[in-house]
Amino acid sequence: MKLEVIILAAGQGKRMKSPLPKVLHALAGTPLLEHVIRTAQGLEPAAIHVVIGHGSEQVQKALAHYDINWVIQEDQLGTGHAVLQALPYISGGGVILVLYGDVPLIRLSTLQNLVQHAQAGPALLTAKLANPIGYGRVLRDAHGALVAVVEDKDATPAEREVQEVNTGLVAAPRGDFLRYLPCVKRDNQQGEYYLPDILSLAVANGKAVSSCTAESELEVLGVNDRVQLNQVEREYQRRLAEQLMREGVNIADPARLDIRGSLSCGADVSIDINVVFEGTVTLGDNITVGPNCVLSDVSVADGSIIHPMSHLQQVVIGKDCSVGPYARLRAGTILSDGARIGNFVETKKASIGPGSKINHLSYIGDCDLGVEVNIGAGTITCNYDGLNKHKTDIGNGVFVGSNSTLVAPLQIHEQGFVAAGSTITKSIAKGELAVSRARQRNVEGWVRPGRRDTKD
Ligand code: UD1
Ligand code: MG
Repeated sequence: MKLEVIILAAGQGKRMKSPLPKVLHALAGTPLLEHVIRTAQGLEPAAIHVVIGHGSEQVQKALAHYDINWVIQEDQLGTGHAVLQALPYISGGGVILVLYGDVPLIRLSTLQNLVQHAQAGPALLTAKLANPIGYGRVLRDAHGALVAVVEDKDATPAEREVQEVNTGLVAAPRGDFLRYLPCVKRDNQQGEYYLPDILSLAVANGKAVSSCTAESELEVLGVNDRVQLNQVEREYQRRLAEQLMREGVNIADPARLDIRGSLSCGADVSIDINVVFEGTVTLGDNITVGPNCVLSDVSVADGSIIHPMSHLQQVVIGKDCSVGPYARLRAGTILSDGARIGNFVETKKASIGPGSKINHLSYIGDCDLGVEVNIGAGTITCNYDGLNKHKTDIGNGVFVGSNSTLVAPLQIHEQGFVAAGSTITKSIAKGELAVSRARQRNVEGWVRPGRRDTKD
Protein backbone atom coordinates (compact mmCIF):
# COMPACT_ATOMS: atom_id res chain seq x y z
CA MET A 1 0.00 0.00 0.00
CA LYS A 2 1.39 3.38 -1.04
CA LEU A 3 1.71 5.99 1.70
CA GLU A 4 2.58 9.68 1.42
CA VAL A 5 3.00 12.02 4.39
CA ILE A 6 2.09 15.70 4.61
CA ILE A 7 3.56 17.61 7.55
CA LEU A 8 1.95 20.96 8.38
CA ALA A 9 4.51 23.52 9.45
CA ALA A 10 3.47 26.87 8.01
CA GLY A 11 2.22 28.49 11.20
CA GLN A 12 4.11 31.36 12.80
CA GLY A 13 3.98 30.22 16.38
CA LYS A 14 3.16 33.65 17.79
CA ARG A 15 3.04 32.38 21.34
CA MET A 16 6.71 31.36 21.23
CA LYS A 17 7.47 35.12 21.13
CA SER A 18 10.50 34.51 18.92
CA PRO A 19 11.62 35.46 15.41
CA LEU A 20 12.64 31.81 14.90
CA PRO A 21 9.93 29.80 13.07
CA LYS A 22 8.22 27.61 15.66
CA VAL A 23 9.12 24.28 14.06
CA LEU A 24 12.83 25.18 14.28
CA HIS A 25 12.80 25.52 18.06
CA ALA A 26 14.90 22.75 19.54
CA LEU A 27 13.75 19.66 21.36
CA ALA A 28 16.78 17.79 22.72
CA GLY A 29 19.03 19.92 20.51
CA THR A 30 17.13 19.03 17.31
CA PRO A 31 14.42 21.14 15.59
CA LEU A 32 10.85 20.07 16.40
CA LEU A 33 10.13 19.47 12.72
CA GLU A 34 13.17 17.19 12.38
CA HIS A 35 11.76 14.87 15.06
CA VAL A 36 8.51 14.59 13.09
CA ILE A 37 10.37 14.00 9.80
CA ARG A 38 12.46 11.24 11.40
CA THR A 39 9.38 9.50 12.81
CA ALA A 40 7.62 9.84 9.44
CA GLN A 41 10.64 8.26 7.73
CA GLY A 42 10.08 5.22 9.93
CA LEU A 43 6.84 4.60 7.98
CA GLU A 44 8.90 4.38 4.76
CA PRO A 45 6.51 6.61 2.82
CA ALA A 46 6.83 7.17 -0.95
CA ALA A 47 7.31 10.89 -0.22
CA ILE A 48 7.24 13.43 2.60
CA HIS A 49 5.70 16.83 1.80
CA VAL A 50 6.23 19.63 4.28
CA VAL A 51 3.95 22.68 4.07
CA ILE A 52 5.84 25.80 5.12
CA GLY A 53 5.02 29.50 5.21
CA HIS A 54 6.45 31.61 8.00
CA GLY A 55 10.24 31.65 7.72
CA SER A 56 10.05 29.14 4.88
CA GLU A 57 13.59 29.80 3.64
CA GLN A 58 15.04 29.39 7.10
CA VAL A 59 13.16 26.12 7.61
CA GLN A 60 14.27 24.71 4.24
CA LYS A 61 17.88 25.69 4.92
CA ALA A 62 17.93 24.12 8.38
CA LEU A 63 16.62 20.79 7.07
CA ALA A 64 18.18 20.82 3.59
CA HIS A 65 19.79 17.42 4.19
CA TYR A 66 16.40 15.65 4.17
CA ASP A 67 14.67 14.38 1.04
CA ILE A 68 11.57 16.56 1.32
CA ASN A 69 9.10 18.06 -1.15
CA TRP A 70 8.73 21.58 0.26
CA VAL A 71 5.30 23.11 -0.38
CA ILE A 72 4.84 26.84 0.19
CA GLN A 73 1.58 28.07 1.70
CA GLU A 74 1.71 31.83 1.09
CA ASP A 75 -1.22 32.73 3.37
CA GLN A 76 -2.10 30.59 6.36
CA LEU A 77 -5.81 30.08 5.79
CA GLY A 78 -6.15 27.01 7.97
CA THR A 79 -5.16 23.37 8.25
CA GLY A 80 -7.51 22.32 5.41
CA HIS A 81 -6.03 24.97 3.13
CA ALA A 82 -2.51 23.82 4.04
CA VAL A 83 -3.20 20.21 3.04
CA LEU A 84 -4.86 21.42 -0.18
CA GLN A 85 -1.56 23.07 -1.21
CA ALA A 86 0.24 19.72 -1.05
CA LEU A 87 -2.37 17.56 -2.81
CA PRO A 88 -1.30 18.44 -6.40
CA TYR A 89 2.09 16.83 -5.69
CA ILE A 90 0.53 13.49 -4.81
CA SER A 91 -0.64 11.09 -7.50
CA GLY A 92 -2.04 7.56 -7.71
CA GLY A 93 -3.88 5.65 -5.00
CA GLY A 94 -2.83 4.85 -1.47
CA VAL A 95 -3.17 6.64 1.83
CA ILE A 96 -2.17 10.16 2.85
CA LEU A 97 -1.18 10.81 6.47
CA VAL A 98 -1.25 14.36 7.82
CA LEU A 99 1.13 15.19 10.68
CA TYR A 100 1.88 18.42 12.53
CA GLY A 101 5.40 19.82 12.62
CA ASP A 102 4.83 20.93 16.20
CA VAL A 103 3.74 17.56 17.63
CA PRO A 104 7.18 15.97 18.02
CA LEU A 105 6.66 13.07 20.45
CA ILE A 106 4.28 11.08 18.30
CA ARG A 107 5.23 7.40 18.27
CA LEU A 108 5.83 5.35 15.15
CA SER A 109 3.52 2.56 16.41
CA THR A 110 0.65 5.05 16.85
CA LEU A 111 1.09 6.26 13.28
CA GLN A 112 1.28 2.70 11.94
CA ASN A 113 -2.02 1.97 13.67
CA LEU A 114 -3.65 5.13 12.27
CA VAL A 115 -2.49 4.34 8.73
CA GLN A 116 -3.86 0.81 9.11
CA HIS A 117 -7.27 2.24 10.04
CA ALA A 118 -7.16 4.57 7.03
CA GLN A 119 -7.09 1.76 4.47
CA ALA A 120 -10.87 1.66 4.55
CA GLY A 121 -11.62 5.37 4.89
CA PRO A 122 -10.78 8.49 6.90
CA ALA A 123 -9.27 7.87 10.33
CA LEU A 124 -8.57 10.36 13.10
CA LEU A 125 -6.16 10.15 16.01
CA THR A 126 -7.97 11.34 19.12
CA ALA A 127 -6.97 11.74 22.76
CA LYS A 128 -8.88 11.97 26.03
CA LEU A 129 -7.72 15.05 27.90
CA ALA A 130 -8.52 16.09 31.45
CA ASN A 131 -8.28 19.68 30.27
CA PRO A 132 -9.44 19.84 26.64
CA ILE A 133 -9.64 23.66 26.41
CA GLY A 134 -8.42 25.01 23.08
CA TYR A 135 -8.65 21.71 21.23
CA GLY A 136 -11.20 20.62 18.63
CA ARG A 137 -13.74 18.29 20.31
CA VAL A 138 -14.76 14.95 18.82
CA LEU A 139 -18.54 14.61 18.45
CA ARG A 140 -20.10 11.15 18.32
CA ASP A 141 -23.65 9.89 17.73
CA ALA A 142 -25.69 7.71 20.09
CA HIS A 143 -23.89 4.60 18.76
CA GLY A 144 -20.50 6.10 19.40
CA ALA A 145 -19.75 6.72 15.73
CA LEU A 146 -17.64 9.80 15.00
CA VAL A 147 -19.72 12.46 13.25
CA ALA A 148 -17.68 15.66 13.41
CA VAL A 149 -14.95 17.70 15.04
CA VAL A 150 -15.93 21.08 16.37
CA GLU A 151 -13.29 23.69 17.12
CA ASP A 152 -13.20 25.12 20.65
CA LYS A 153 -14.09 28.58 19.34
CA ASP A 154 -17.13 27.23 17.45
CA ALA A 155 -18.35 24.80 20.12
CA THR A 156 -21.51 25.15 22.22
CA PRO A 157 -21.10 24.97 26.01
CA ALA A 158 -22.34 21.35 25.92
CA GLU A 159 -19.82 20.44 23.20
CA ARG A 160 -17.05 22.05 25.26
CA GLU A 161 -17.72 19.46 27.98
CA VAL A 162 -16.45 16.71 25.68
CA GLN A 163 -13.05 15.46 26.72
CA GLU A 164 -12.16 13.55 23.59
CA VAL A 165 -10.16 15.86 21.34
CA ASN A 166 -8.76 16.00 17.84
CA THR A 167 -4.97 15.57 17.99
CA GLY A 168 -4.86 17.00 14.46
CA LEU A 169 -3.40 13.82 12.98
CA VAL A 170 -5.55 12.42 10.19
CA ALA A 171 -5.08 9.66 7.61
CA ALA A 172 -7.34 8.78 4.70
CA PRO A 173 -7.22 7.32 1.19
CA ARG A 174 -6.04 9.97 -1.29
CA GLY A 175 -9.45 9.82 -3.02
CA ASP A 176 -11.19 11.04 0.15
CA PHE A 177 -8.93 14.08 0.43
CA LEU A 178 -9.55 14.91 -3.26
CA ARG A 179 -13.31 14.49 -2.86
CA TYR A 180 -13.95 16.34 0.42
CA LEU A 181 -11.19 18.91 0.88
CA PRO A 182 -12.27 21.21 -1.98
CA CYS A 183 -15.78 21.25 -0.41
CA VAL A 184 -14.57 22.57 2.95
CA LYS A 185 -15.85 26.10 3.64
CA ARG A 186 -14.50 28.82 5.93
CA ASP A 187 -17.83 29.81 7.52
CA ASN A 188 -16.59 29.52 11.10
CA GLN A 189 -15.42 31.77 13.92
CA GLN A 190 -11.84 31.90 12.64
CA GLY A 191 -12.70 32.20 8.95
CA GLU A 192 -10.31 29.29 8.27
CA TYR A 193 -10.49 26.13 6.18
CA TYR A 194 -10.56 23.41 8.85
CA LEU A 195 -9.04 20.06 7.89
CA PRO A 196 -11.29 18.05 10.28
CA ASP A 197 -14.31 19.26 8.27
CA ILE A 198 -13.51 16.54 5.72
CA LEU A 199 -14.65 14.06 8.37
CA SER A 200 -18.20 15.44 8.72
CA LEU A 201 -18.38 15.73 4.93
CA ALA A 202 -17.45 12.04 4.63
CA VAL A 203 -20.03 11.08 7.26
CA ALA A 204 -22.70 13.12 5.42
CA ASN A 205 -21.76 11.10 2.35
CA GLY A 206 -22.48 7.86 4.19
CA LYS A 207 -18.85 7.01 4.86
CA ALA A 208 -17.74 5.70 8.25
CA VAL A 209 -14.89 7.58 9.93
CA SER A 210 -12.75 5.51 12.26
CA SER A 211 -10.59 6.70 15.08
CA CYS A 212 -7.78 5.51 17.27
CA THR A 213 -6.66 6.86 20.60
CA ALA A 214 -3.16 7.98 21.46
CA GLU A 215 -1.37 6.06 24.22
CA SER A 216 -0.53 9.13 26.29
CA GLU A 217 -1.41 12.80 26.40
CA LEU A 218 2.20 13.84 25.96
CA GLU A 219 2.54 11.87 22.75
CA VAL A 220 0.11 14.24 21.04
CA LEU A 221 1.03 17.43 22.87
CA GLY A 222 1.41 20.28 20.40
CA VAL A 223 4.04 22.91 21.13
CA ASN A 224 2.46 26.35 21.10
CA ASP A 225 4.50 28.12 23.76
CA ARG A 226 7.65 27.72 25.85
CA VAL A 227 5.81 25.98 28.67
CA GLN A 228 4.68 23.22 26.31
CA LEU A 229 8.13 23.12 24.72
CA ASN A 230 9.56 22.45 28.16
CA GLN A 231 6.94 19.77 28.86
CA VAL A 232 7.87 17.83 25.71
CA GLU A 233 11.58 18.33 26.42
CA ARG A 234 11.31 16.86 29.92
CA GLU A 235 9.16 13.96 28.68
CA TYR A 236 11.62 13.23 25.89
CA GLN A 237 14.56 13.32 28.30
CA ARG A 238 12.71 11.06 30.73
CA ARG A 239 12.16 8.50 27.96
CA LEU A 240 15.85 8.57 26.99
CA ALA A 241 17.00 8.23 30.60
CA GLU A 242 14.64 5.33 31.24
CA GLN A 243 15.85 3.54 28.15
CA LEU A 244 19.48 3.96 29.25
CA MET A 245 18.73 2.71 32.76
CA ARG A 246 17.02 -0.35 31.29
CA GLU A 247 20.16 -0.93 29.24
CA GLY A 248 22.20 -0.97 32.49
CA VAL A 249 23.40 2.61 32.86
CA ASN A 250 23.52 4.01 36.38
CA ILE A 251 21.93 7.47 36.32
CA ALA A 252 22.02 9.49 39.54
CA ASP A 253 18.86 11.42 38.71
CA PRO A 254 17.00 11.01 35.41
CA ALA A 255 15.46 14.46 35.90
CA ARG A 256 18.91 16.02 35.91
CA LEU A 257 20.35 14.58 32.72
CA ASP A 258 20.15 16.10 29.23
CA ILE A 259 20.95 14.26 26.04
CA ARG A 260 20.94 16.55 23.02
CA GLY A 261 22.04 14.08 20.40
CA SER A 262 22.95 10.42 20.75
CA LEU A 263 24.60 8.71 23.69
CA SER A 264 25.76 5.12 23.65
CA CYS A 265 27.11 3.43 26.77
CA GLY A 266 28.95 0.21 27.54
CA ALA A 267 28.58 -1.83 30.73
CA ASP A 268 28.70 -0.22 34.19
CA VAL A 269 28.59 3.40 33.19
CA SER A 270 27.71 5.88 35.95
CA ILE A 271 26.41 9.34 35.20
CA ASP A 272 26.10 11.81 38.04
CA ILE A 273 23.71 14.78 38.19
CA ASN A 274 23.52 17.74 35.77
CA VAL A 275 25.47 16.16 32.94
CA VAL A 276 24.79 17.40 29.39
CA PHE A 277 25.61 15.24 26.36
CA GLU A 278 25.62 16.90 22.95
CA GLY A 279 26.16 15.54 19.45
CA THR A 280 27.49 11.99 19.34
CA VAL A 281 28.91 10.67 22.59
CA THR A 282 30.23 7.14 23.06
CA LEU A 283 31.18 5.84 26.49
CA GLY A 284 32.91 2.46 26.87
CA ASP A 285 32.74 0.09 29.86
CA ASN A 286 33.27 1.18 33.49
CA ILE A 287 33.13 4.91 32.87
CA THR A 288 32.21 7.46 35.51
CA VAL A 289 31.06 10.94 34.57
CA GLY A 290 30.97 13.28 37.57
CA PRO A 291 28.41 15.99 38.24
CA ASN A 292 28.07 19.13 36.11
CA CYS A 293 30.04 17.95 33.09
CA VAL A 294 29.35 18.81 29.45
CA LEU A 295 30.46 16.25 26.83
CA SER A 296 29.99 17.26 23.23
CA ASP A 297 31.03 14.87 20.43
CA VAL A 298 33.28 12.83 22.67
CA SER A 299 34.35 9.21 22.86
CA VAL A 300 35.69 7.74 26.08
CA ALA A 301 37.30 4.30 26.25
CA ASP A 302 36.95 1.73 29.06
CA GLY A 303 37.84 2.55 32.65
CA SER A 304 38.22 6.31 32.33
CA ILE A 305 36.83 8.83 34.75
CA ILE A 306 35.61 12.34 34.03
CA HIS A 307 35.66 14.28 37.29
CA PRO A 308 33.12 17.02 38.13
CA MET A 309 32.76 20.35 36.29
CA SER A 310 34.64 19.32 33.16
CA HIS A 311 33.84 20.54 29.65
CA LEU A 312 34.89 18.31 26.74
CA GLN A 313 34.27 19.15 23.12
CA GLN A 314 35.37 17.04 20.11
CA VAL A 315 37.69 14.94 22.17
CA VAL A 316 38.87 11.32 22.08
CA ILE A 317 39.81 9.76 25.39
CA GLY A 318 41.63 6.44 25.69
CA LYS A 319 41.42 3.76 28.36
CA ASP A 320 41.98 4.40 32.08
CA CYS A 321 42.37 8.16 31.72
CA SER A 322 41.48 10.71 34.34
CA VAL A 323 40.10 14.14 33.44
CA GLY A 324 39.29 17.06 35.74
CA PRO A 325 37.82 18.24 37.99
CA TYR A 326 37.47 21.60 36.21
CA ALA A 327 39.17 20.56 32.97
CA ARG A 328 38.44 22.10 29.59
CA LEU A 329 39.38 19.84 26.68
CA ARG A 330 38.75 21.51 23.33
CA ALA A 331 38.52 20.29 19.74
CA GLY A 332 41.24 17.95 18.58
CA THR A 333 42.36 16.77 22.00
CA ILE A 334 43.33 13.10 22.02
CA LEU A 335 44.29 11.35 25.24
CA SER A 336 46.12 8.05 24.92
CA ASP A 337 45.60 5.30 27.48
CA GLY A 338 46.41 6.23 31.07
CA ALA A 339 46.82 9.97 30.44
CA ARG A 340 45.82 12.39 33.19
CA ILE A 341 44.46 15.92 32.91
CA GLY A 342 43.93 17.72 36.19
CA ASN A 343 42.18 20.85 37.39
CA PHE A 344 42.17 24.15 35.50
CA VAL A 345 43.87 22.68 32.46
CA GLU A 346 42.87 23.75 28.95
CA THR A 347 43.93 21.74 25.91
CA LYS A 348 43.30 22.24 22.20
CA LYS A 349 44.56 20.21 19.20
CA ALA A 350 46.74 18.30 21.60
CA SER A 351 47.76 14.68 21.44
CA ILE A 352 48.67 13.47 24.90
CA GLY A 353 50.73 10.27 24.88
CA PRO A 354 50.20 7.20 27.09
CA GLY A 355 50.69 7.84 30.80
CA SER A 356 51.44 11.55 30.34
CA LYS A 357 50.25 14.02 32.96
CA ILE A 358 49.14 17.65 32.91
CA ASN A 359 47.83 17.93 36.40
CA HIS A 360 47.38 21.61 37.19
CA LEU A 361 46.67 25.06 35.71
CA SER A 362 48.05 24.78 32.18
CA TYR A 363 47.27 25.64 28.56
CA ILE A 364 48.49 23.06 26.06
CA GLY A 365 47.53 23.83 22.46
CA ASP A 366 48.80 22.66 19.04
CA CYS A 367 51.01 20.21 20.84
CA ASP A 368 52.10 16.57 20.63
CA LEU A 369 53.20 14.89 23.84
CA GLY A 370 55.01 11.54 23.84
CA VAL A 371 54.91 8.76 26.43
CA GLU A 372 55.12 9.48 30.19
CA VAL A 373 55.61 13.22 29.87
CA ASN A 374 55.16 15.36 32.97
CA ILE A 375 53.92 18.89 32.47
CA GLY A 376 54.31 20.96 35.64
CA ALA A 377 51.73 23.32 37.07
CA GLY A 378 51.25 26.58 35.20
CA THR A 379 52.88 25.53 31.91
CA ILE A 380 51.76 27.50 28.86
CA THR A 381 52.37 26.64 25.22
CA CYS A 382 52.58 29.99 23.41
CA ASN A 383 51.15 28.65 20.17
CA TYR A 384 50.01 31.95 18.63
CA ASP A 385 52.29 34.80 17.54
CA GLY A 386 49.43 37.13 16.73
CA LEU A 387 49.37 35.94 13.11
CA ASN A 388 49.91 32.21 12.93
CA LYS A 389 49.60 29.12 15.10
CA HIS A 390 52.73 27.07 15.73
CA LYS A 391 53.37 23.57 17.05
CA THR A 392 55.16 22.28 20.10
CA ASP A 393 56.56 18.74 20.01
CA ILE A 394 57.44 17.14 23.31
CA GLY A 395 59.22 13.77 23.26
CA ASN A 396 58.94 10.72 25.51
CA GLY A 397 59.84 11.12 29.17
CA VAL A 398 60.22 14.91 29.04
CA PHE A 399 59.82 16.82 32.30
CA VAL A 400 58.59 20.39 32.15
CA GLY A 401 58.99 22.24 35.46
CA SER A 402 56.25 24.44 36.86
CA ASN A 403 55.48 27.90 35.54
CA SER A 404 57.23 27.34 32.21
CA THR A 405 56.49 29.20 29.00
CA LEU A 406 57.07 27.17 25.83
CA VAL A 407 57.24 29.49 22.83
CA ALA A 408 56.29 27.63 19.63
CA PRO A 409 57.48 26.48 17.18
CA LEU A 410 59.47 24.30 19.53
CA GLN A 411 60.82 20.78 19.92
CA ILE A 412 61.76 19.26 23.22
CA HIS A 413 63.36 15.92 22.46
CA GLU A 414 63.00 12.85 24.63
CA GLN A 415 64.15 12.96 28.25
CA GLY A 416 64.62 16.74 27.94
CA PHE A 417 64.16 18.71 31.16
CA VAL A 418 62.87 22.24 31.52
CA ALA A 419 63.73 23.98 34.77
CA ALA A 420 60.82 25.57 36.58
CA GLY A 421 60.04 29.16 35.67
CA SER A 422 61.79 29.01 32.27
CA THR A 423 60.79 30.76 29.09
CA ILE A 424 61.86 28.36 26.35
CA THR A 425 62.32 29.75 22.85
CA LYS A 426 64.94 27.32 21.46
CA SER A 427 64.53 23.60 20.91
CA ILE A 428 66.02 21.24 23.48
CA ALA A 429 68.06 18.20 22.44
CA LYS A 430 67.67 14.69 23.84
CA GLY A 431 68.40 14.55 27.57
CA GLU A 432 69.36 18.24 27.86
CA LEU A 433 68.42 20.47 30.76
CA ALA A 434 67.18 23.90 29.71
CA VAL A 435 67.23 26.73 32.24
CA SER A 436 66.04 30.08 31.06
CA ARG A 437 65.44 32.41 33.94
CA ALA A 438 67.26 35.09 35.88
CA ARG A 439 69.82 33.62 38.27
CA GLN A 440 68.91 34.10 41.91
CA ARG A 441 71.07 36.54 43.89
CA ASN A 442 70.87 36.67 47.69
CA VAL A 443 72.08 39.96 49.27
CA GLU A 444 73.51 39.56 52.72
CA GLY A 445 72.79 42.21 55.38
CA TRP A 446 70.22 43.91 53.25
CA VAL A 447 67.86 46.32 55.04
CA ARG A 448 64.42 47.04 53.74
CA PRO A 449 64.15 50.79 52.84
CA GLY A 450 62.25 52.84 55.44
CA ARG A 451 62.19 49.97 57.93
CA ARG A 452 63.21 50.72 61.49
CA ASP A 453 65.75 48.39 63.09
CA THR A 454 63.77 46.40 65.64
CA LYS A 455 66.80 46.36 68.04
CA ASP A 456 66.62 50.18 68.57
C1 UD1 B 1 -5.75 22.20 15.36
C2 UD1 B 1 -7.09 21.55 15.06
C3 UD1 B 1 -7.77 21.17 16.37
C4 UD1 B 1 -6.88 20.26 17.17
C5 UD1 B 1 -5.52 20.92 17.39
C6 UD1 B 1 -4.57 19.92 17.99
C7 UD1 B 1 -7.98 22.47 12.99
C8 UD1 B 1 -8.90 23.43 12.38
N1 UD1 B 1 -7.91 22.45 14.32
O1 UD1 B 1 -6.00 23.40 16.05
O2 UD1 B 1 -9.00 20.51 16.08
O3 UD1 B 1 -7.48 19.95 18.40
O4 UD1 B 1 -4.94 21.32 16.14
O5 UD1 B 1 -3.36 20.53 18.31
O6 UD1 B 1 -7.36 21.69 12.29
N2 UD1 B 1 -0.87 25.14 9.92
C9 UD1 B 1 -0.44 25.36 8.63
N3 UD1 B 1 -1.15 26.22 7.86
C10 UD1 B 1 -2.26 26.86 8.31
C11 UD1 B 1 -2.68 26.62 9.63
C12 UD1 B 1 -1.97 25.75 10.41
O7 UD1 B 1 0.55 24.81 8.18
O8 UD1 B 1 -2.84 27.62 7.53
C13 UD1 B 1 -0.10 24.19 10.76
C14 UD1 B 1 0.55 24.83 11.97
O9 UD1 B 1 1.85 25.28 11.67
C15 UD1 B 1 0.55 23.70 12.98
C16 UD1 B 1 -0.69 22.90 12.59
O10 UD1 B 1 -1.00 23.24 11.27
O11 UD1 B 1 1.67 22.87 12.83
C17 UD1 B 1 -1.88 23.19 13.50
O12 UD1 B 1 -2.20 24.54 13.44
P1 UD1 B 1 -2.71 25.34 14.71
O13 UD1 B 1 -2.97 26.73 14.29
O14 UD1 B 1 -1.79 25.11 15.84
O15 UD1 B 1 -4.11 24.60 14.96
P2 UD1 B 1 -4.90 24.57 16.32
O16 UD1 B 1 -5.66 25.84 16.46
O17 UD1 B 1 -4.00 24.17 17.40
MG1 MG C 1 -1.84 24.16 17.69
